[in-house]
Amino acid sequence: MKLALATWVEVEDYLKDNDGIIVPIGSTEQHGPTGLIGTDFIIAQGIAEACAEQLGCYVAPPLAVGMAQHHMAFPGSMTLHPATYIQVLVDWITSLSKHGFRRIYFINGHGGNIAPTLTAFNEFYAGVSLKPETEESKTLCALASWWTMPNTDALIRDIFAEKDGAHATASEIAITQYLCPESIKPAAPDLFVAAAGTPLDIHNGYDYRRRFKDGRIGSDVRAANPEDGGRVFKQAVKDITEHCTKFFQS
Ligand code: NI
Repeated sequence: MKLALATWVEVEDYLKDNDGIIVPIGSTEQHGPTGLIGTDFIIAQGIAEACAEQLGCYVAPPLAVGMAQHHMAFPGSMTLHPATYIQVLVDWITSLSKHGFRRIYFINGHGGNIAPTLTAFNEFYAGVSLKPETEESKTLCALASWWTMPNTDALIRDIFAEKDGAHATASEIAITQYLCPESIKPAAPDLFVAAAGTPLDIHNGYDYRRRFKDGRIGSDVRAANPEDGGRVFKQAVKDITEHCTKFFQS
């Protein structure tokens, strides 16, 4: 159920017997010469909506711009400062918690969001822990980055092996090909693929572009196809639905 398509009356009714909600978080950033700029939030939103359907819970609108400062030398990328991102997330959590949502489950599509998201959780918790106890002490948050779920990761290794790479991965591009078939961009047959083991210690956006000229990190996007994207998507939905079920029951 999409929060955006509900009325406040329906949400108030839902909260009488339920307290779980899913929030997709992603990024608006370059994904190499063939990947969509919306890749990270398109995938997080797709998985989140499918999981919410299975769980019968609400799914919030996606946070479509994340912490992506290291992609800013590539046109079209957008970022929040880390401190802004943290504050935005704390405000989202506080808003949902105020209404009585007590289990807030974030489905993430972007590696750069992981550290500031966990910091945002602790910022919210600190606001609770430093005051006399209120109902908000029952509000708990969880984070699932879809590509790190063990069975999803194993399937990605199985299908793409070392061709997956570390950014603009074959698997994430394959999922967007599955979800947005009208926006598939063909890869050049003679695409250069960086050697495996490329360092990941990227600093700023210029440093990134100097070292990874077309934006990919070690991925061979010629391996991406919508059929395999669908397989990885469905595995991620299964893994995350199971994980979220346990969190909602915790
Ligand atoms: Ni991505």
